[in-house]
Amino acid sequence: MAKISRRSGRYPALRWRKTRHSNRAVTEEPGDDSMGTFVIEGGRKLSGTVWISGSKNSSVALIPACLLADGTSRLENLALIRDVQVFARILKDLGANVDFQGHSITIAPNGFSSWKAPYDLVKQLRASYYLMGVLLAKFGRAEVGLPGGCDIGPRPIDQHLKGFKALGAEVRVEGGVVKLRARLLKGTSIYLDIPSVGATINIMLAASRAEGTTIIENAAKEPHVVDLANFLNAMGAKVLGAGTDVIKVRGTKSMKGATHSVVPDDMEAATYMMAAVATRGNVLLRNVIPRHLEPVSAKLREAGATVKEEGDGIRVICNDRPRAVNVKTLPYPGFPTDAQQPLVAVMATAEGTSVVQESVYDNRLGYVSELIKMGAHIKVEGRTAIVEGVPYLVGAPVKANDLRAGAALVVAGLSARGRTEVHGTELIDRGYESMEEKLSSLGASIRREE
Ligand code: EPZ
Repeated sequence: MAKISRRSGRYPALRWRKTRHSNRAVTEEPGDDSMGTFVIEGGRKLSGTVWISGSKNSSVALIPACLLADGTSRLENLALIRDVQVFARILKDLGANVDFQGHSITIAPNGFSSWKAPYDLVKQLRASYYLMGVLLAKFGRAEVGLPGGCDIGPRPIDQHLKGFKALGAEVRVEGGVVKLRARLLKGTSIYLDIPSVGATINIMLAASRAEGTTIIENAAKEPHVVDLANFLNAMGAKVLGAGTDVIKVRGTKSMKGATHSVVPDDMEAATYMMAAVATRGNVLLRNVIPRHLEPVSAKLREAGATVKEEGDGIRVICNDRPRAVNVKTLPYPGFPTDAQQPLVAVMATAEGTSVVQESVYDNRLGYVSELIKMGAHIKVEGRTAIVEGVPYLVGAPVKANDLRAGAALVVAGLSARGRTEVHGTELIDRGYESMEEKLSSLGASIRREE
C-alpha cells in the first residue's frame, strides 16, 4: 500500500522508463489501445489523508505557454498524468527542450521553430489547441489540426477563432486544419458569447504578444485561468482581472522564462471529497485551495456532510446516508460540470430524489447507464438526471467513456457492495495521478489490472 512520503507528502512517481538515447524520461504507458481495469471491493469507509496533485486543466495551458518565452521555464507541482506526459512529448516533437524531474518540468523553446502542429500529434490531446494561440503569438502563423468532439459533446471552438480574428488574424479551416496568419496581432475588445475556459485561455495566450491591450469580456473565471495569468505575468506579460469576467492583456514584445508552481487540482479534490461522502468516511485532503472548492463544499454540506478547513487542507466527514440535493452545473463559481458525474454517483445512494441538470455540455449523462447496472435508479430526460436514492449499490463490471465518468464509476464502486470492475483506466489516468495508490492509502480495496 503506497504511503505518502513524509518529505514531499507525495506518492511514488508513476513508473518511468528512461529512453535509451537520452536521460529524458518517457512514460511507461500501456499501449494506446490497452484497456486497463480497476478492480474494487466496495463497502469500505475511506479514512486518512490524501495529497492532491497539480491541476490537469491548468497544466495543459501552462505547458504550451512556456513556448512564449525566449528562455527556459520550470513548472513545479505537476501531476504525473497522461495529459501532461502527452503534451510534454508534443513539445519535444515540435523541437523544444523538455526535461522532467519528478513532479517538475523544465521547458526551453530552443529548437522550436515550426508554426505547424501536425494532426498526428494534436489528435492525442484535445487541449493541444492551445498551440494555436501560442504559435500565432510567437510566429504570426499557426497550422494546428482541429480537435475532434468527444464523448460529452461536439465541443466547437468558434469562440477561440472569433478571438483570433478580432486580434487581426486571417482564419481558414482546410482539411481539418486550422490555419491562422497575422502580419500583426493588435489588441482589441472581444466579447465572448459564452464564458468559455478554452477560448479565454487561447485568446490570453495570443494577446500576450500582441501590440496594445486586449480586453476579454464575459471571460471564464476558473482557477486555472487565474493560474495561467499569474504565470504569464511572471514571464513579463501584463494580465489584469483574471478571475473576473473582464480580463485585460497588455501585449509585450518579449517574455522571459519563469518558474511557477501549478495550482492544486480542484476537480481531483472534488472527486476525493465525493469518495469520502459515498463511503461514509472521514478524509483530510491536503494541498488544496478551499476557496476553489467552495461550490462543491457548499453542495456536500447541503447533503449533510461535514466539510471544514483544517490546516492547509479540507476535511470531509459523512456518517450517515447523505440527503438528496438538486444541482445545475454552471461555469465557475457555479457547481462545476467536471464534478457532476461523481456527485451523481454519491446521490445514487442518498436519502430522497435529486435533480441534476447538466447545462454546460450537450451529452454528459451517458455514464448513467453504467450506474444503473449497479442498481442505481436514475432517469435521464434531455440534460437532466433524476436520481432516486437507493439504500446501496451492488458491484458490477462497468466501462468509463470519459475521464470524469471513470471517476464517477470508481466512486460508485467504492461505495457498492461486492466487486466492481471499472474498465478504461487509461481514460482515468489522463487526469488522476496514482489513483489506486491514493485510494489504497485511504483504506480502499482497489487494484489495477492491465
Ligand atoms: C475546459 O474545457 C476543461 N478542459 C473541461 O474539463 C471542463 O469541463 C470545461 O473547461 C468547463 O469547465 C480543459 O481545461 C482542458 P469550455 P473547454 O470552452 O475549455 C462550448 C475535464 O474533464 N463552447 O468552457 O473545452 C463547449 O462546447 C474536461 O477535465 C462553444 O460552444 O470548456 C461547451 O459546451 C472535460 N464554443 C461549453 O462551451 C467554443 O468556442 C464550455 O466549454 C468553446 C466552447
